Amino acid sequence: MLSVKGVVVQFGKEELFKDVNLNFIEGNCYGLIGANGSGKSTFLKVLSGSLEPNRGTVETGKNQRISMLRQDHFAFDEETVLNAVVMGHKHIYDLVLEKEKLYAKSDFSDSDGMRVAHIDDELHRLDGWSIESEAGKLLNNLGVGEEFHQMKMKQLDSSFKVRVLLAQALVGNPDILLLDEPTNHLDVETAMWLEEFLIEFNNVAIVVSHDRHFLDKVCTHIADIDFGKITLYSGNYTFWSESSQLALRQRGDKNKKIEEKRKEMQEFILRFSANCAKSRQATARKKILEKLVIDEIKPSSRKYPYIDFSFDQPLGNDILSVVNLSKAVDGETMFKDFSITLQKTDRVAFLGRNDLAKTTFFKVIEGEAPADRGSFKWGEAVKAAYFPKDFGPYFQTDLNVMDWLRQYSANRDESFMRSFLGKMLFSGDDVFKNVRVLSGGEKVRCMMAKIMMAQVNCLVMDEPTNHLDLESITALNKGLERFNGVLLLACHDHQIMQSVANRIVELTPRGFLDKPNYTLDEYLENENIKLQRAQLYV
Ligand SMILES: Nc1ncnc2c1ncn2[C@@H]1O[C@H](COP(=O)(O)OP(=O)(O)OP(=O)(O)O)[C@@H](O)[C@H]1O
Ligand SMILES: [Mg+2]
Repeated sequence: MLSVKGVVVQFGKEELFKDVNLNFIEGNCYGLIGANGSGKSTFLKVLSGSLEPNRGTVETGKNQRISMLRQDHFAFDEETVLNAVVMGHKHIYDLVLEKEKLYAKSDFSDSDGMRVAHIDDELHRLDGWSIESEAGKLLNNLGVGEEFHQMKMKQLDSSFKVRVLLAQALVGNPDILLLDEPTNHLDVETAMWLEEFLIEFNNVAIVVSHDRHFLDKVCTHIADIDFGKITLYSGNYTFWSESSQLALRQRGDKNKKIEEKRKEMQEFILRFSANCAKSRQATARKKILEKLVIDEIKPSSRKYPYIDFSFDQPLGNDILSVVNLSKAVDGETMFKDFSITLQKTDRVAFLGRNDLAKTTFFKVIEGEAPADRGSFKWGEAVKAAYFPKDFGPYFQTDLNVMDWLRQYSANRDESFMRSFLGKMLFSGDDVFKNVRVLSGGEKVRCMMAKIMMAQVNCLVMDEPTNHLDLESITALNKGLERFNGVLLLACHDHQIMQSVANRIVELTPRGFLDKPNYTLDEYLENENIKLQRAQLYV
């Protein structure tokens, strides 16, 4: 059990939340939701003890261990992969280390011997001897094979590091598990494995995610951050979202009697429970749904940014031509003999089971990585902007938001900057925040402001929705629909891909498919294409 009592968190004058009183109970999985910048990551830091709240306390049961998915990808660079995972259970790791040190002593004394015996007892109690094999299993399950286990962390690329850090959080059956956007860098299969893990997990789990599908699969409860408060609701994300919309409609309807509203709400709950009974985890979750009570739900205070990629410089006829381009990463083929000529009306969705293949292709055409073979050429009139999947390095500076954006502008005027930052929901003193402290979603909004300001006629975007909340994803979707230039996009959001792309390219190690004049759904549903795809993945 994890209890939060009277917690207040404040940065400067700004109060993030006040008087949070919550109990998190074993066997439940809580989805922590809220707009970008509402304080989800901050709240997890408070729960884990890595950030002191301004007021209030966080208490766990006796001897309970909290484990949190680390966000710092460089923290364990010098460790081996297997060690980094075992370090997730710090107590066991420290005991083993201490024992090794004692044995290495040249003057091993009686009291050292007693200490070793004590350590052995403790390790036995904690089941410490099996931790290494458990770590190995977790890594394998997460797609990090044996051949990586003895490598140093710094040798891994970021998508692999994330899996190792995830294994580190999960190892040793923690009593309280805190995961901040765990699916962001995971491929579909690994994300599904994590879903199953969380469904089976019997202790307290609290997960932050912007992925509706994931939240629906794993959550028994939703904790919503809004209005500086955190409110708990039973049920999964869809239930929360639909019941809150119903409550909102009812509030607007002054003519309906209270009794009628109650009845409508009950019917909704019954209908919802019936639908849920079809899903796999239904039996476990059904009990909770039966006991549901709709709490007081307020209309949300979430805001929409305004994203608009307009430009003046017209495109010529030459856009991008790629000829027989091939590249391997660490010996693994990403794409092979890939050729394509883009037209000025092309809005290309890039698919492929391996996300790294798309990322690598974008890096090559952006000049960030050399190709192994083949060539590419951009048209003279093309002015492209790149949204890299890993935008972290852009923010490793002590500039404030305003000065950060100014680096990328010829016009240094404050009001010019503010016009872009305002659209991205940075107003007033927000623009003087140090960019290092920005939340993931806020950083993406900065990147969008930078790209909008550049007035480009070609966008190359690699997973731009990863950190965004639903309001921002909607705004990005609209912005991309309005955009008149050439688009190269890799994105896990089906709706965005479906609504903006008119050409589909799939990159695989055995070859590629290129289908102009197809939408995503047409591509996925076409029987011929299904056969062609199957051949590429045998
Ligand atoms: N040390 C700090 N000083 C000042 N402001 C901070 C600090 N740390 C975080 N903030 C601000 O607090 C707010 C909450 O940040 P947090 O990272 O918790 O948001 P989040 O809900 O996790 O957002 P996202 O969905 O984008 O990840 C943000 O506006 C952020 O800029
Ligand atoms: Mg966050």
